[in-house]
Amino acid sequence: MREASITDCLADLLGGGIVALPTETVYGLACLALDDNAVQKVFDLKGRPSTNPLIVHVLNIEQAENIAELNSIAKLLCQEFWPGPLTLILPKKAVIPEKVTAGLNTVAIRSPSNPLFRKILEKADQPLAAPSANRFSKVSATTPREVMDSFGEDCPPILDGGKSNIGLESTVLDLTGDTPEILRLGPISKRELEKFLEIEILNYSKTKHANTAQKSPGLSSKHYSPETPICLYKDVSAILQVEHWTADDLIIFPSENLIPSSKLEPATAIAFSVTGEAKEIAHNLYATLNKADRFEKKLMHMALLEDGGDVAGAVNDRLTRASSS
Ligand code: TXA
Ligand code: MG
Repeated sequence: MREASITDCLADLLGGGIVALPTETVYGLACLALDDNAVQKVFDLKGRPSTNPLIVHVLNIEQAENIAELNSIAKLLCQEFWPGPLTLILPKKAVIPEKVTAGLNTVAIRSPSNPLFRKILEKADQPLAAPSANRFSKVSATTPREVMDSFGEDCPPILDGGKSNIGLESTVLDLTGDTPEILRLGPISKRELEKFLEIEILNYSKTKHANTAQKSPGLSSKHYSPETPICLYKDVSAILQVEHWTADDLIIFPSENLIPSSKLEPATAIAFSVTGEAKEIAHNLYATLNKADRFEKKLMHMALLEDGGDVAGAVNDRLTRASSS
């Protein structure tokens, strides 16, 4: 493992390099947002298409104002939800390289709450671009080990912040249209945002944008995919109706107590959580998918969450994309 100290990471960043840093959502692959060459290195290492823009991480509103135009709604949201897992899409200022925004005239900005990431932002005294620290279209990393597994020999230095608190990427909210619109579901829900703003906000709909250029290029339906293909069921009882399992099957239940004591042999069964609570499942989601890959089975089986809450909705969004081919 290429673990590095805050001082080492800072030196690498300021020298135009890339480091993997912990955030409260998932690990990020960070570089100086204003350094064109460093940004290119991030795209290259991830294998990310140059059409898919990066999120820029800032310490606070003042830093955000240096790189984007904040309207009154943006300011209110920053005051309420930053630092935290809310990314805002705003009109960009010229200082942000086009490479970061994939040529768009908007920029994605968030202020992470992880204290180690904030320490680096404070010392660097400039914004950092950071996509999730995984290869393009693969499962996001929530521990240093997963970052390493993702990049292997090419792995950059990693600042160890333990396992990510939340485990799901930030909510992405577009503030450039007439009505705010959620482009990616995440830890901060539509309901929470509407309650705070006291206005209705939109949920990105593929149908609505079918005839226009894709609004958020990172929203392709295939994403977050483990190596092993996924068979996704509508609920746990649909899994339990399967009559024949083979040793090539891995079944992931929402919680340990839902694993039946018989009936599944010779398949292997594991669980996303102990309690079955959506928050715990979100926290363990990517670590479990990464662990599941290491069983090297032919197919993994799992079900959508049934609790109907906001976090479950975000988890189901990721499961649906992970299973889409
Ligand atoms: O929680 C997170 O947001 C993590 C941590 C590391 O901060 N970062 C993350 O970055 O998930 P990434 O690059 O994996 O996802 C960024 C998403 C993509 O879906 C991308 O298309 C969208 O944000 N995005 C970035 N800039 C955009 C823009 N100007 N307009 C619309 N969508 C944008
Ligand atoms: Mg990502």
